[in-house]
Amino acid sequence: MKTKIVNTPDLLKAASRKKETTRFCTANPTHFEDLKSLVKGQKYYIRTYGCQANVRDEETMRAMLEDVGYSFSEDIENVDVIIINTCAVRENAEDKVYGEIGNLKRLRKRNKKLVLAICGCMVEQPEILKRLMDTFPEVNLFFGTHEIAQLLDLIYESLTTGERIVSIESKQGEVVEFVNDCRNNHYKAFVNIIYGCNKFCSYCIVPYTRGKERSRHFEDVINECQKLIDAGYQEITLLGQNVNAYGKDLDEGYDFADLLEAVAKLGIPRLRFTTSHPWDFSSKMIDVIAKYPNIMKFIHLPVQSGNDEILRKMGRRYTREQYLNLVKEMREKIPGLSLSTDIIVGFPNETEEQFQDTCSLVDIVKYEAAFTFIYSPRRGTPAAKMKDNVSKETKVRRFQELVKHLEKGIEEHSNSMIGKTYDVLVDGVSKTDDNMLSGYTEENKLVHFKGDVSLVGTIVKVKINESHTYSMIGEIVNG
Ligand code: SAH
Ligand code: SF4
Ligand code: F3S
Repeated sequence: MKTKIVNTPDLLKAASRKKETTRFCTANPTHFEDLKSLVKGQKYYIRTYGCQANVRDEETMRAMLEDVGYSFSEDIENVDVIIINTCAVRENAEDKVYGEIGNLKRLRKRNKKLVLAICGCMVEQPEILKRLMDTFPEVNLFFGTHEIAQLLDLIYESLTTGERIVSIESKQGEVVEFVNDCRNNHYKAFVNIIYGCNKFCSYCIVPYTRGKERSRHFEDVINECQKLIDAGYQEITLLGQNVNAYGKDLDEGYDFADLLEAVAKLGIPRLRFTTSHPWDFSSKMIDVIAKYPNIMKFIHLPVQSGNDEILRKMGRRYTREQYLNLVKEMREKIPGLSLSTDIIVGFPNETEEQFQDTCSLVDIVKYEAAFTFIYSPRRGTPAAKMKDNVSKETKVRRFQELVKHLEKGIEEHSNSMIGKTYDVLVDGVSKTDDNMLSGYTEENKLVHFKGDVSLVGTIVKVKINESHTYSMIGEIVNG
């Protein structure tokens, strides 16, 4: 197979943040009609790893594929297009992808016309792209996070030329509006408000894979939310790597608090946002969250570490004291607030004392949920160049110790829920028991309860009877 390189990634370019205005455009494939006549009745399969940004990209790609005539099939053995949408945030995320593609490459022998594509954050890294290209000659399309809108043209080119195509341009990125929509869920929706990240935390690959912070127009976000409300959606989550940097790159006079308030006023029953960075969290935002009952009293506020020196080395832009003061202000102004967080243990040269600072911060804040990670060096980031004197065993031990501290807070919160009644948005049949439904409270606690499948997508009142720490058992009550 001949290879056509349109663009390959470049980490230096990916890290540059030139002062240029964001290009706004609408997705408009050149070969839409040509491809449509080629793929009638054909099927696609897509698999997504990683964060909600990738989940939303998957929905965007589904909309384009279905618009041109492909339909989705679970039967991966017999589809015409396979897309693996990857994540690069930690090594274990990447390992899963190598395993999966290893399993898929045999399909090339059976179907010479198969479009086998890898996209997402992994291919944005030059060395990983090279490894993927060398290891899997069966993969015939590689495209990056900035090429989503070109998906149909890339498929068309691959089908008509028979070439292997690589189109990954490291750039600041643009804001593309898509005409058609496709949603994996019919009552809960993600709405992108800002793409990319400018924070460059020293351990993190995301700013390199996703480009610079660029906000969608205020009106575009509002219109999308209004459409979802008209279609009966119950919950909207405003999405961005740093939602509260919203508007800083635009000259429209709006910030995140303004946008949040405007969406709340549209009247969606449940409004959430993720992820907010402590550095960009304003008092104005806290006031808006406190004011509107339909903004869920649940904030994901990644702390990463409880020690000032480590926070400084991570480039997080806040101190332990500033973070704790922010939490204090939130809790004072927002009664019933639930907080969750992300924490990294085993950052290079983290001392036992520094790690204990993280444990003590966890004891003070008493999070209601948390994601904990062992530091994973990402090539190209500043932290990956730091020599590290902490052994793997120590990191694993610290990780387990930290989880115990977190569990104390989570358990306390879960136990306090017993006997009380909560509004629960019903998600579906419980994964572990067919007779049970499951859903989330406003504070984002998972609850299982008996009920009829017809309740999926509605908000019901559930009285909590039992705590299993990370999830609760309850029963539906009238009214
Ligand atoms: N934009 C979000 C989420 C970024 S990725 C934010 O800033 O919070 C999600 C989480 O992955 C991060 O919060 C961090 O805890 C973790 N993470 C990122 N890079 C990592 C790395 N190299 N090793 C381990 N965990 C990492
Ligand atoms: Fe990564 Fe930091 Fe940006 Fe979050 S804020 S995506 S952790 S660089
Ligand atoms: Fe992963 Fe990319 Fe998201 S690295 S966490 S899919 S932004």
